Amino acid sequence: METSQPQPAAATVPSATTTEAPVFVQTADAVQELDRWEQVGEEEARMVYEMTLRNELSGGTPVVRQFEAEWRRLTGLKFALTTVNGTSALYSALFGLGVGPGDEVICPDYTWICTVSPAPLLGAAPVFAESDPRTMMIDPDDIARRITPRTKAIIVVHLWGWVCDMDRIVAVARKAGVPVIEDCSHSHGATYRGKPVGSIGDVGCWSLQGTKPVSAGEGGVLATDDVDVFERACLVGQVNRIKGVDLVTTRYRDLQPLGTGMKFRAHPLGIGIASVQLAKLPELNRRRGAYVERIEAGLADVAALEPIPTSPGSQRGGFYGFPVRFRSERVGGASTADYIKACAGRGLKVGASVYPALHTLPYFAKGFDLFTGGRGPLVDGWRGYKPGDFPATRKLLTELLFLPVLSDPVDGAAEKILGILADASAAVSKL
Ligand SMILES: Cc1ncc(COP(=O)(O)O)c(C=O)c1O
Repeated sequence: METSQPQPAAATVPSATTTEAPVFVQTADAVQELDRWEQVGEEEARMVYEMTLRNELSGGTPVVRQFEAEWRRLTGLKFALTTVNGTSALYSALFGLGVGPGDEVICPDYTWICTVSPAPLLGAAPVFAESDPRTMMIDPDDIARRITPRTKAIIVVHLWGWVCDMDRIVAVARKAGVPVIEDCSHSHGATYRGKPVGSIGDVGCWSLQGTKPVSAGEGGVLATDDVDVFERACLVGQVNRIKGVDLVTTRYRDLQPLGTGMKFRAHPLGIGIASVQLAKLPELNRRRGAYVERIEAGLADVAALEPIPTSPGSQRGGFYGFPVRFRSERVGGASTADYIKACAGRGLKVGASVYPALHTLPYFAKGFDLFTGGRGPLVDGWRGYKPGDFPATRKLLTELLFLPVLSDPVDGAAEKILGILADASAAVSKL
């Protein structure tokens, strides 16, 4: 039994064309044998076929607009905008909030780099915050410590389908008068105190990249109630789409229809695929949620592992990954590497986190002359980071283990996985 995690997995496959160069494919990877879920199928293919025959291939087409309307309905927000990917949704959100040179943007040290990669490109310095070692999310107290008069935005990330403690985050942010962007790329359909994630802070951003719970292949969405954020997001990425279509006030009338001339418009075919996927999301979340809860309950019999709690009042969704905590002290000091090996030997692929702590990347640790000639936020005055700067995140990364995410488990799949996890736990404790 070979299983794999449906989390950022890059598959390099031999090219079938004339060139020998490897190609890069990154779509969701079903866990063979144990999972019946097919990420894309006939319905998505039919949608693409029909849209192509209608020549619905560029711009804010009917399918795109319908998808955005549906996103507004699901989030309860007034505005939604599709983009070419999640990174450009985040870029648009930061631009929407007026983030620019000299500003600082706080974000978790533990997240995918694209959460914050747009900030330096807008001239703003990223400021990393510690993780709460219990919940793995950004630590609200550490956000408070890192706020300065230059802080222009706080980005929080609902990692792997779990949900941040939004009451504490919003309290810290409101006290400082700083807006909050929620990066919901892992947690489509999750809620906090009954509200969809993405609708609690000031702007929500979602990736619709190939392995995400709702996939466009490549795509993204931004949603907000703030008309100015929305209109600025239109200005920065929706060239030629905004005239009489998107802008709702007259504030930027003189800039219509080209805005800033930048283009982050989503491909309509991708959004067509995502609209089919969106209809499946409640079922996907129900199935994944039941499987995750079944495994978590069974971990009571696996000494090495324990579940990770989500914030009070939250309902997980998306389940882009399935992290659990490895308790080395309960199994005689064995390491996660020992445990991964023991599981692999029994045919189960579990893995460590694929995300490095951002402060350890040379780009941020040493800085980078982004705009050449000593210009940009990561050079002059950039203090950089040292390996020991984020002890909680560092500890977290030694403890996180990722189990397979099954969306439609075959009968007995959870029991089989739990059996292997328990066997491996017993085996490593005897090392
Ligand atoms: C947390 C997070 N934020 C942002 C992104 C960027 O999204 P995209 O790859 O669609 O640009 C990703 C993608 O994996 C992500 O996981």
